[in-house]
Amino acid sequence: MRALRLGVNIDHVATIRNARGGEHPDPIRAAHMAAAAGADGITAHLREDRRHMTDSDIARLVAEIRLPLNLEMAATDEMLEIALKNAPHAACIVPERRAERTTEGGLDAAGQHNSLKRFVGSLNDAGVRVSLFIAPERRQIEAAASLGAPVVELHTGPYAHADGSAEELQRLADAAALAASLGLEVHAGHGLTFANVGPVAAIPELAELNIGHFLIGEAVFTGLDASIREMRRHMDEARQQGAGA
Ligand code: PXP
Repeated sequence: MRALRLGVNIDHVATIRNARGGEHPDPIRAAHMAAAAGADGITAHLREDRRHMTDSDIARLVAEIRLPLNLEMAATDEMLEIALKNAPHAACIVPERRAERTTEGGLDAAGQHNSLKRFVGSLNDAGVRVSLFIAPERRQIEAAASLGAPVVELHTGPYAHADGSAEELQRLADAAALAASLGLEVHAGHGLTFANVGPVAAIPELAELNIGHFLIGEAVFTGLDASIREMRRHMDEARQQGAGA
């Protein structure tokens, strides 16, 4: 079975910093710690309202960290310009609504096919690996493939909110198999915790999980290093059991 990468989303280190202004805690320090703890990549979402990461955080991440940076961004001209200027390793296009607390739904790659084409094309041309954050649905996966995105990230929020239901898990597994059969690299994320990550990590087609809120929250109790290492352990164990099954 292929290796499963862990992308650590550090947005909420910036959320805590921004609660008081100033520079502490520094998300770039968290990125360095994540690298030392075994993360394979760093994920950061530059939102339109800059509620957590800022433009200068993104520039510093690109300049200062060695791990691949996955920039989450809405499909807007402003974000496209920032992505092209910073040239992160990857960009994950997400839907964004101002009033939402976090990314709530998947991108409507099927419904917004024409408007997304320009974003996927420009990022592809710039050598930025594009992923589309979508629900685990056939029409969204097929739309992502026809848009020429090399990667899809499957939204695990409904699975997490349904307490890891078998039905939602099956939807993720079927979607991952379909996406892989169309030649897409498959990632997943949102709402993953120590308790629910295992069955997702065991889906053999998955290449990467992106996890943030739980890891940063857990770090309050155990430290960031321990929280990331424990997540890695859950992922690796589930992967090994899946391989042996
Ligand atoms: N993947 C995407 C596309 C996201 O928008 C988020 C949240 O920013 C995550 C993964 C990580 O979700 P969580 O913070 O719930 O682990």
